[in-house]
Amino acid sequence: MSPLTQDYIRFRSWTAWVSAVLLTWSITLLAPLNASALLDDPPAASPTTQPPDAKPDHDHDDDDHDHDAKTKGRKPSSIRRPAHRHTGKTYMGREIADVMSYLGAPWLFRPERIAEERPDEMLAALKIKPGMVVADVGAGAGFHTLRLARLVGPTGTVIATDVQPQMIQLLRNNVRQARLTNVKPVVCTHDDAKLPKGAVDLVLMVDVYHEAANPEALLKDIKAALKPDGRLVLVEFRAEDPNVPIKEEHKMTVAQMRKEIEPQGFRLAEKLDFLPWQHILIFENLANPPASTGVPKTDGDGRVPSDNSGSGRRRN
Ligand SMILES: C[S@@+](CC[C@H](N)C(=O)[O-])C[C@H]1O[C@@H](n2cnc3c(N)ncnc32)[C@H](O)[C@@H]1O
Repeated sequence: MSPLTQDYIRFRSWTAWVSAVLLTWSITLLAPLNASALLDDPPAASPTTQPPDAKPDHDHDDDDHDHDAKTKGRKPSSIRRPAHRHTGKTYMGREIADVMSYLGAPWLFRPERIAEERPDEMLAALKIKPGMVVADVGAGAGFHTLRLARLVGPTGTVIATDVQPQMIQLLRNNVRQARLTNVKPVVCTHDDAKLPKGAVDLVLMVDVYHEAANPEALLKDIKAALKPDGRLVLVEFRAEDPNVPIKEEHKMTVAQMRKEIEPQGFRLAEKLDFLPWQHILIFENLANPPASTGVPKTDGDGRVPSDNSGSGRRRN
């Protein structure tokens, strides 16, 4: 064999080795981006988080993406967190946060969420029993709905509501893929929670209440939907803790939650603080609520005008 041929063979084996290494690296790096890697406990198939009509992602921006991770020295998430816009609306002294766009649904199923929010321990603390009727208000793409549906079992029901029809479509897909038959997906509005009257054992809102555009209308509907011994559970990022890496308008203090919830006919029964970043507040439904402060009118977008505490209510 000529020296030239030997050099050529050596060159071919070297390029084959380099290609094999590059292929292995790309498979390892791209695997977390696969939708099947988004859920810790995948149902029959992996959850859907990409809406079919997803447009180029203008609701995300790189400056905002993991801003908090950069500032708090945390490892950035593999999934982009949605950008925030200010609504300019306030309610009882705090800013009402903008609704998280359905384009951010993959962030709700990011793998890190299991360690950051510990959803199974959170739900276990609520002592949900088979046969219960639970409303997952602001359910998003169904991260908690799927878990709730398994907890209440075939004799129970989960009513999953959201103001964004696209979120409800994603949730429907996930429920179907998980082969769950006890979930009722509902598109609601900011002024009408679309819940059945006096039929619900527990209303759960995880990372939702601070986005409610008309908090008093929402709480009035929740109160009407709960059974007399029903419970309202709010899970919100702790605003008292500067180390919780979430934008301020998406966090709430216990004092602020009590100030807003209790006058609407609820009483704080239990406060659990074992989650890394969130409070769990369990409110009981008072039989004889304090005199109503009235439900304020909303503007054309269904939002409460700044610090409005007047009376009247707009229905869509
Ligand atoms: C941050 S996401 C959380 C979704 C879900 N609870 C979870 O933990 O994965 C907030 C969701 O609440 C919904 N939302 C905001 N205001 C609402 C309201 N008044 N009624 C029902 N859904 C609402 C938004 O559309 C969005 O899908």
